[in-house]
Amino acid sequence: MSTPTFRSVLYVPGNRPRMLAKAPTLPADAFVLDLEDSVPPGEKAEARRLVREALLSGAFAGRAVLVRVNGLASGLTQDDLAAVVVEGLFGVDIPKVEAPDEVREVEEMLAWAEGRAGLPRGTLRVGIGIESPAGLLRAEAIGRACRRLLSLGLGAEDFTFNLGTQRSPTGEELFIPKALVALVARALGVQALDTIYPDFRDPEGLVREAKLARQLGFSGKYAIHPDQLGPINRVFTPDEAEVRWAREVVEAYEAAQGSGLGSVAVGGRMVDRPIYERARRTLELAARWGITA
Ligand code: COA
Ligand code: MG
Repeated sequence: MSTPTFRSVLYVPGNRPRMLAKAPTLPADAFVLDLEDSVPPGEKAEARRLVREALLSGAFAGRAVLVRVNGLASGLTQDDLAAVVVEGLFGVDIPKVEAPDEVREVEEMLAWAEGRAGLPRGTLRVGIGIESPAGLLRAEAIGRACRRLLSLGLGAEDFTFNLGTQRSPTGEELFIPKALVALVARALGVQALDTIYPDFRDPEGLVREAKLARQLGFSGKYAIHPDQLGPINRVFTPDEAEVRWAREVVEAYEAAQGSGLGSVAVGGRMVDRPIYERARRTLELAARWGITA
């Protein structure tokens, strides 16, 4: 099964019925219904119940929905999975992963939960949250340990805490972690999801951060608020100028190839195979998101 690339992935706190009800009306490419850090300890059981109800209601039919379970250290993971693994759920996000064994353990629980829900083993995909220096340094092994890997994502709030620092407006402390998460995800052939931008009333800052993420190789970005979805989707969608350029490149390169040439000039720039391949990918993304130029 080919998986669509998610430009925007919206976190929805699992204990907030109003937000769970609103989510399906919003233009996120995917949703993460959260049982972890947006839910206080006293509300975990209620959040499980609300998330299960939302999944079974059919309100998300046709949309990609994941649930972020609590990590192994919490002791809550298995009960989370038992409550939320139902038909129609697309996948599970595992937070704060630091070692390959954790992934294997959660995958076993997941297979158990799938069996219990009458789903074929391996139905659900897995997103992995890299949220600490230890996790980052083992990210490749962690990713390779997972047989149903969908994405690697960076969780910058936990990451900077574990690094002994904090997020700055300019973000230098996250430059290397972001670059590494994108590199590893691309090396493994899975989606790379950039961390949330917490200041949801600052669209310019959000767009700046999303553009940097795209430049570093991320395929999409997590969001926390409905207002962030439009800007994120736009940044991760080719614009009309990119689509026009891509079309010119593809036409010129294919014509050149027909006459036995491997490179050609387009608008004063050299175009060879990788530039042609990138142009084709741009056109594929544009077609997927309905962009014409
Ligand atoms: N998912 C779905 N709906 C959301 C939402 C979300 N993440 N965030 C806000 N909304 C809804 C609100 O319920 C409100 O809907 P309404 O007008 O029908 O009542 C509307 O969008 C506007 O929200 P607003 O009043 O601007 O924000 P808020 O003060 O209600 O919420 C936050 C702000 C940050 C608390 C909220 O966006 C949030 O909880 N985000 C997710 C946080 C999270 O999951 N963190 C963990 C991952 S890092
Ligand atoms: Mg976190």
